[in-house]
Amino acid sequence: MKPDGACDRARLLNGVGGESVAEVFDLVGGRPVAKVPHQTDSQRRRLELFKVPDAVDIHCHCLPGLDDGPETMGEALELCGALVEDGITTAIATPHQLGHYDGRNESSEIRRVVGEMTAALKADGIPLRILPGGDVKIDERIPNLIEQDRVMTVGDSGRYLLLELPLEFCIDPIPLMHAVRERGVELLLTHPERYSYLAKEPQKAIDWVRKGLHLQVTAGSLTGCFGKLAMQAGWFWLERGAVVTIANDAHHVTGRCPCMSEAIAAITSRLSQRTASITCLENPLRITNGLPIVRAERGEYIAGVQ
Ligand SMILES: [Fe+2]
Repeated sequence: MKPDGACDRARLLNGVGGESVAEVFDLVGGRPVAKVPHQTDSQRRRLELFKVPDAVDIHCHCLPGLDDGPETMGEALELCGALVEDGITTAIATPHQLGHYDGRNESSEIRRVVGEMTAALKADGIPLRILPGGDVKIDERIPNLIEQDRVMTVGDSGRYLLLELPLEFCIDPIPLMHAVRERGVELLLTHPERYSYLAKEPQKAIDWVRKGLHLQVTAGSLTGCFGKLAMQAGWFWLERGAVVTIANDAHHVTGRCPCMSEAIAAITSRLSQRTASITCLENPLRITNGLPIVRAERGEYIAGVQ
């Protein structure tokens, strides 16, 4: 098989063939996955169980002093240690951009602090790779800011952008979704289950998914960390195959802490290990590498629009 052959891409998208995810990624020429050299037991177990080369958390506030995540490098290292214990091998650092942080957290600054964090992790012997990203509040300037390299995509791949809506009121993200698609960027709506206006009316998000929006549910929501309403909505979309990916969105080691392991266990128990694999391992890896995502098994709502 040739690295960029159409046949290989079809195999990737359809999930057929006997290759492991790692082998498929090699086949399609995705960005090389740098192996974390010294894995902990929790990381090794995760990679071996799901047969992936990298366990990525695509949404994490782990950089010091930039937003409402850790204030100091010491706190940031503590959070990174908790991510490692949670089985994560790569974290996408996603400081808030725009909204309350308008004028702060420029992409160049995020990339610079990721470099500092990487050096600090190495010095502390914490086996976690950090890549740059952003948690971007909805804003009509986003298409232009993408062109100016002033908002971050996940892993700096230029393909997927984490989009945050206001907590208090709904803004339709679909016009923005079409505008950024013209620039080759897909939108991933972060924690839809934590917007009460969506959680109370979950069909609205299903309609957005049918139009091409992607949903990222927070791991802790599935285990009840954000209350009953968020938990119900998260499972509602997950059971219908409408959730593309799960992420920690961790800010600290207490409160909003990493709990991907618990989410994986819950999804495996309630749905299937395949669904857990797609939403917690496979799609985060594809998103980070700028590759097409796949849908979870129980996609009856989605199947009609593909
Ligand atoms: Fe976030």
